Amino acid sequence: MPIINPDFPQLHVLHHPLIQHKLSMMRDKATPTILFRQLLKEISLLMGYEITRRLPMTTMRIETPLTTMDAPVIAGKKVAVVPILRAGLGMADGLLELIPSARVGHVGLYRDHETKRPIEYFVKLPEPEGRTFILVDPMLATGHSAAAAADVLNKYGVADENILMMVLVAAPEGVGVFTRAHPKIQIYSASLDSHLNENAYIIPGLGDAGDRIFGTK
Ligand code: URA
Repeated sequence: MPIINPDFPQLHVLHHPLIQHKLSMMRDKATPTILFRQLLKEISLLMGYEITRRLPMTTMRIETPLTTMDAPVIAGKKVAVVPILRAGLGMADGLLELIPSARVGHVGLYRDHETKRPIEYFVKLPEPEGRTFILVDPMLATGHSAAAAADVLNKYGVADENILMMVLVAAPEGVGVFTRAHPKIQIYSASLDSHLNENAYIIPGLGDAGDRIFGTK
C-alpha cells in the first residue's frame, strides 16, 4: 500500500517489495542499459497497477456459461499516458502494456540557459474531454519540468483533478516545487530520496535517467 509522508500529503510512495528490489538494481551503477530499461518497464507496470486502483468502475450484463451476471468493468473514463521527453519514454512502455488502449501524448521541454526555466519545444496531446492524464518522468528533481508539463496540460484544457504524476525517484525539493504549483495533482513514486546535490542530481538517485535508459553520455 502507498505510504503518505506528512510533509507531502499528495505524494504516495509505493513500498512494494518487487518495486523496491527492482529500483535497487537500477540504482547500481554496474547495471547495464538493457537491464536498466527492462527494470524501468517492469516497475512502471507494477506502479501502474497501484495507480489504476482509483479508476471508476461500473457493471456490464454478461452471460457466463451458467447464468447471467452484472460483472464489474472499468467505467468509460479514458486514459492518456504522457511521457515528458526524453526520459519519460522509458516509463510509458510499462504503462502501455497494462493499459493498451491508452492514448499517448508527448511533452518536450528544454532548459533555457539564461533563465534556467523549462521551454516547450514539442507538445502533441490527445483529446482532453473525459480523460485521465498520467504524466510520467522517472526523476522528480527540481520539479520545474514536471510543473511546466502540468501547466501545458492545463493550458490544453486538462484540470489538475484529471492529472496523475508518476515518477520513479523524487527529491523533497522537487515534490515541494511541484505541489506548490499543482496542489491537486497526486504524485506516485517508488522512492522519496534524500536531497538534490549542487548540480540538481538526486542523492542517492540513480544518475542521469535519460542517459541510462538510452545508453548515451
Ligand atoms: N535528472 C536525472 O536524470 N537524474 C537526476 O538525478 C536528476 C535529474
